[in-house]
Amino acid sequence: MSKYSILVINGPNLNLLGTREPGIYGAGTLQDLTANLDKVAAECGVSLEHFQSNHEGQIVDKIQSALHRHDFLLINAGAYTHTSVAIRDAISGVSIPFYEIHISNVHSREPFRHHSYLSDKAVGVIVGFGLKGYEYALRAAVDYLHKQNH
Ligand code: DQA
Repeated sequence: MSKYSILVINGPNLNLLGTREPGIYGAGTLQDLTANLDKVAAECGVSLEHFQSNHEGQIVDKIQSALHRHDFLLINAGAYTHTSVAIRDAISGVSIPFYEIHISNVHSREPFRHHSYLSDKAVGVIVGFGLKGYEYALRAAVDYLHKQNH
């Protein structure tokens, strides 16, 4: 049994990775991403759970159910990042530390992508590193958990 459990949440349209706007999001699929993160998690000795949904309420339910089950969240809320007070409130409600991830550099895109309802609550934000950003976030989360608990 791993000491730490981390939940990876991908929001709307991230199930389309690989075919969706590859010039922005790259050629890797959600399956490729999941497989790589599982490999890194095994190397770091942590448990990972993956969740993807296109539905705001399902993401809220998943975050609520993470209480006492997961030690850290990695979340790419997709477009809900820029709109969802409900997802913000769910994360605040469970008080689980998290990193916010974006594959693309949202700050170099349309102005409506510049604001996030999550960033000020996050331990950190990883933006614009492609799918690699999830791996960086996972490794950083493991470091964070080790530091917090020593
Ligand atoms: C995204 C950026 C969002 O603005 C967009 O709506 C997404 C993906 C990213 O990973 O770059 O769906 O979160």
